Amino acid sequence: MTAFYRQSGSMMSDRKSLSSLADEFGTPLYVYNRGAIEHAWQEFETALQGHRHLICYAVKANSNLAILNILARLGSGFDIVSVGELRRVLAAGGQADRIVFSGVGKSAAEMAAGLEAGIRCFNVESDAELDRLAEVAAAHGVVAPVSLRINPDVDAQTHPYISTGLKENKFGIGMSHAMDSYRRGAEHASLAIKGIDCHIGSQLTRLSPYADAVALLIDMVDRLADEGIRLSHLDVGGGQGIAYSEDEASLDIGAWADCVIQGIGDRDLEIMVEPGRYVVGQAGVLLTRVEYLKNNEDRHFAVVDAAMNDLIRPALYSAWQAIEEVETLPRESQVYDVVGPICESADFLGKQRSLAIAQDDLLCVRSAGAYAAVMSSNYNTRARAAEVMVDGDDAHLVRARENIEDLFANEYLLP
Ligand code: LLP
Repeated sequence: MTAFYRQSGSMMSDRKSLSSLADEFGTPLYVYNRGAIEHAWQEFETALQGHRHLICYAVKANSNLAILNILARLGSGFDIVSVGELRRVLAAGGQADRIVFSGVGKSAAEMAAGLEAGIRCFNVESDAELDRLAEVAAAHGVVAPVSLRINPDVDAQTHPYISTGLKENKFGIGMSHAMDSYRRGAEHASLAIKGIDCHIGSQLTRLSPYADAVALLIDMVDRLADEGIRLSHLDVGGGQGIAYSEDEASLDIGAWADCVIQGIGDRDLEIMVEPGRYVVGQAGVLLTRVEYLKNNEDRHFAVVDAAMNDLIRPALYSAWQAIEEVETLPRESQVYDVVGPICESADFLGKQRSLAIAQDDLLCVRSAGAYAAVMSSNYNTRARAAEVMVDGDDAHLVRARENIEDLFANEYLLP
């Protein structure tokens, strides 16, 4: 499904033109498309049909309440990494018993919040965390459901900053130690060992790392069963990649599911998956207006009103995201670095892009539904952008633009 398309030269989402949204809500503006989010989520649902499964949307990719609510209405589960995300999911109507709690550094207070809410499972990443969770659960007089996150030491073949399944990464429990951790967990009366999980990285576009990881995890499931530790689910994490450029292909979700199901064979294991980027990535764009065009010697710059505080992926990961004119207008084409107003050379949205634009024209940065608005900051005391959800004929404001005064409302002068 194409959430954003061109009609008579104008970029559209459903029946709304992006220009009309910029006029109504201002820029910079994040625009999401409800149908595209639902469609991407349904791809997992369809692919896993016939096998016991739970799709736990990775909230960190985009935690806007409207998005969580759209997914909750579909019956989605959620993968959270903080008490903040827990509160968001509950506020958006998500069901506690469909929440898994990931993350390498859960505090005792976060564990308590998860137990009080009655979440499905804690994805535990170390012996120390196992012991702490056992203590917190005992103090609450409850039994905590546990899965151990295994670090299978497989190469996800993605950007080093978003690769998580290698032993040099901080994540998970190493293969050689994991059996011991399971035995340790099984001894705690306040823990119920439920599953096994991994997350080997993000933006994976090949199946082989998944196949390798599942094979390693399944081997462990069998060895645990031999010792009498029986698991009821296998959580393969997220990571399904999308096509940021035309020369990339997104991961085929049908083929991905076949690969996981094949790896599980006839074992009675519920499949859990934690997709973030795949569900929302292509369902969002960032709209920005050209403030100035300028040249330094022979370099051409389009200075726009969105900046690295709005979208940090290009600066942080050298990520490439497509940038297009919102309206096709009769302009001379030029190669530009598209840069923001922030006082840093890393403040760019894209470099060396061929664009036909003039001052005050609108640009749209594609594939900005995931890890975009959620990673924004107030650097340079810039208010965060507004967010809008297009749904057919309607566009709903789902996050208001921040007020400048609110940005320093929690700061105090000295007496
Ligand atoms: N599960 C766990 C435990 C994770 O750590 C992550 C992402 C996911 C699921 C979801 O992964 P996804 O399906 O979205 O790839 N900020 C980076 C991506 C960081 C991903 C962190 N973990 C970026 O902008 O590319």
